[in-house]
Amino acid sequence: MHETWSPSSWRSRPVLQQPEWPDEAALDRVAEELSGLPPLVFAGEARNLKDGLAKVSRGEAFLLQAGDCAESFRDFSADSIRDKLKVILQMAVVLTYAAGMPVIKVGRIAGQFAKPRSAANEKQNGAELPSFRGHAVNDDPFDAESRRADPHRMLRAYHQSAQTLNLLRAFTKGGFADLTQIHNWNQEFVASSKEGRRYEQIANQIDRALTFMAACGIDLGADSTLHEVDFYTSHEALLLEYEEALTRKDSLTEDWYDCSAHLVWVGERTRQPDGAHVEFLMGIRNPVAVKLGPGAHPGEVLTLCERLDPQLEPGRLTLVTRMGAGSIEQTLPPLIEAVKGAGRQMVWVCDPMHGNTFVTGDGYKTRRFDDILSEIKSFFAIHQGMGSVPGGVHLELTEQGVTECLGGAEEIFDHDLTSRYQALCDPRLNARQSLDLAFEIGEMLQG
Ligand code: PEP
Ligand code: CO
Repeated sequence: MHETWSPSSWRSRPVLQQPEWPDEAALDRVAEELSGLPPLVFAGEARNLKDGLAKVSRGEAFLLQAGDCAESFRDFSADSIRDKLKVILQMAVVLTYAAGMPVIKVGRIAGQFAKPRSAANEKQNGAELPSFRGHAVNDDPFDAESRRADPHRMLRAYHQSAQTLNLLRAFTKGGFADLTQIHNWNQEFVASSKEGRRYEQIANQIDRALTFMAACGIDLGADSTLHEVDFYTSHEALLLEYEEALTRKDSLTEDWYDCSAHLVWVGERTRQPDGAHVEFLMGIRNPVAVKLGPGAHPGEVLTLCERLDPQLEPGRLTLVTRMGAGSIEQTLPPLIEAVKGAGRQMVWVCDPMHGNTFVTGDGYKTRRFDDILSEIKSFFAIHQGMGSVPGGVHLELTEQGVTECLGGAEEIFDHDLTSRYQALCDPRLNARQSLDLAFEIGEMLQG
């Protein structure tokens, strides 16, 4: 960390993708209030995740990072959190079973409320209004009142994150994530599908393995790893006033941690090496990540590695590539080459969502399941061919049966998008598509 870093040193750097807050004084008051509220996560937990990610960088674990593109203030309930957790736990079972190694589970959850946008404004029927920037900033309906940025929304985002984390901790440590509950993670509407039945087969095999171990005299009740799950939170660190306010000094190590989430990342639009967002990430000791799109140059990526991980600390920095199925063959190898050349062993993760988005003739933002799958396949093949580790996937998904992405075993077509399109921002894989994808990735992990 350079000598002049402080949680507010980002303020002297150019900062992109910020809302136009109409009232600066109100923003300051909100930041002040946030800085007096309890941390959402603890430094020790962030360190545990860093250890897990260090294993990923060595090929000893696989990362599953998944959740909504943008969390919503609207459909927030204990049921929706539980069902989202079900989908992720199901996917993790499939991956763990296939890979025979631990799966590190990280949600895009409990803080994923702010969105960068390609255009500052949105036009509809001749009217122009500020773009929707996530529920921590403004509201999604297209009217002037909804689209006005209101800093008080950051407080609501904090409180919803706290409630979400409370539920996640209860579900993952209080019995629901017990391996003996494995059949309960299959939501009813998924269980009857082809993917759901395939999942049941694995679940039955795991049941038998547990029965076998118990029969051999192993005390299954004594081992907490069978009964609890470590589930971590993450989001894009976009609103730096929010992140600064939640950055606290760890009493044990005297280091700074951003206690808004275990892992935070900078997006494709805010990863300028001299910019405010990278400056902020430089000084916190959480594991951090950077999104890299098809335009990322090897030199720029090395600069980011040097700034964000000057000590070559295992698990500290994750590189999330989101190239697009059509471009990954050209754009990923030079980055891997450069990073290897610098003697670095990174956590490489594939985001197969953001490089494969397009708008249909009817104006729906969507992605094809086949493009998503194809980018992940290329990601595995390229890394394996270059002697590098394909460490994980970063996905946008929902627990619901939405129709936002095309294809998959369910064969969602263009004309189906209208029926259950609920995305606030980017199109998400539905529960069946997510499980389907987990089986495909499991096969890749088996080699
Ligand atoms: C996102 O993860 O929702 C996102 C906006 O990604 P990117 O920065 O890669 O475009
Ligand atoms: Co997105």
